[in-house]
Amino acid sequence: MAVMSCLGAVLLILALNGSYVLTLADPVPVVMWHGMGDSCCNPLSMGSIKKLVEQQVGGGVYVLSLEIGNSIVEDMENGFLMNVNKQIDIVCAQLKKDPKLQNGFNALGFSQGGQFLRAVAQRCPSPPMLNLVSFGGQHQGVYGFPKCPGDNITLCNYVRKLLNLGAYVSWIQNLLVQAEYWHDPLNEAEYRSKSVFLADINQERQFNATYKANLLKLKNLVLVMFGNDTIVDPKESEWFGFYIEGQGKALYNMTESKLYQQDLLGLKELNESGRLTLLEAPGDHLQFTDAWFEANILRFLK
Ligand SMILES: *[C@@H]1O[C@H](CO)[C@@H](O)[C@H](O)[C@H]1NC(C)=O
Ligand SMILES: *[C@@H]1O[C@H](CO)[C@@H](O)[C@H](O)[C@H]1NC(C)=O
Ligand SMILES: *[C@@H]1O[C@H](CO)[C@@H](O)[C@H](O)[C@H]1NC(C)=O
Ligand SMILES: *[C@@H]1O[C@H](CO)[C@@H](O)[C@H](O)[C@H]1NC(C)=O
Ligand SMILES: *[C@@H]1O[C@H](CO)[C@@H](O)[C@H](O)[C@H]1NC(C)=O
Repeated sequence: MAVMSCLGAVLLILALNGSYVLTLADPVPVVMWHGMGDSCCNPLSMGSIKKLVEQQVGGGVYVLSLEIGNSIVEDMENGFLMNVNKQIDIVCAQLKKDPKLQNGFNALGFSQGGQFLRAVAQRCPSPPMLNLVSFGGQHQGVYGFPKCPGDNITLCNYVRKLLNLGAYVSWIQNLLVQAEYWHDPLNEAEYRSKSVFLADINQERQFNATYKANLLKLKNLVLVMFGNDTIVDPKESEWFGFYIEGQGKALYNMTESKLYQQDLLGLKELNESGRLTLLEAPGDHLQFTDAWFEANILRFLK
């Protein structure tokens, strides 16, 4: 306690002398986006990760765990039933007006929050996202729904029903989050033309040079794939791999993808400038220890 108040006094004096010293003293803020079936503030998931980040980064780091909606229940529901493009707009507006983020922030995306935060980087360059870490994000989408994360079986069964009706049916596409990153390798043409979210941010329609320029502003893009992931189909999507067109078994990896080869998003340039990191975590979807986080992720937040 004595040390804390002493430190506070030092910071106060420095603040009087010039804000640039304060910037040095303040750790870079962290923005987190939770996954499907989860919410901003579940003490067992995002709540405990927020604590972990606060402890490991230290210095009273500001950690914002995004809540989409006005309550935890709405936040969880919106992870299934609010058009992703609208969610991105809401988040961009929220980040823009948060005074603590104006000098830049690091971003941690969990599961679908990984591709959502990538969309934020591509669409909303200000305030600047510095490092983006995606934990099990589905960057080439999913083709399957093997298991439901979260506790809400009712919502999960509803999602399955709608996906079976047809992910690219217009009203389902515009309503259901998981349809918006559904990627059917037997139907690439339909995916390209109908997917309102993933096909857009992955440059499947007209090439948007702004998306590439903005993603290239990142200091680092870090993609974590979970080696024993039983939730994401295929887990290689977490590293931009996916099923080769026309079937659902053989895969291409990032290096072999059109996105990388034609460098439509800047992934190749990021890699060649040493700013792309692919990490494999042992274990199932989003399962990692504090020690693993400290050894592999902390360096991007310090
Ligand atoms: C490209 O993306 C930017 C950022 O979201 C957007 O403002 C612009 O309208 C897009 N351009 C095209 C051609 O879609
Ligand atoms: C599941 O979600 C539905 C719709 O939001 C809600 O009505 C229901 O209470 C939730 N069930 C549980 C167990 O949380
Ligand atoms: C990134 O570059 C390294 C070194 O040139 C290469 O070995 C690696 O395969 C590249 N990564 C991807 C995803 O292609
Ligand atoms: C992709 O596969 C090729 C050929 O097997 C391999 O050389 C390359 O290193 C792989 N890239 C990644 C990112 O795994
Ligand atoms: C998956 O789990 C098994 C058993 O726990 C372990 O031996 C293996 O190394 C894991 N594989 C990966 C890729 O993480």
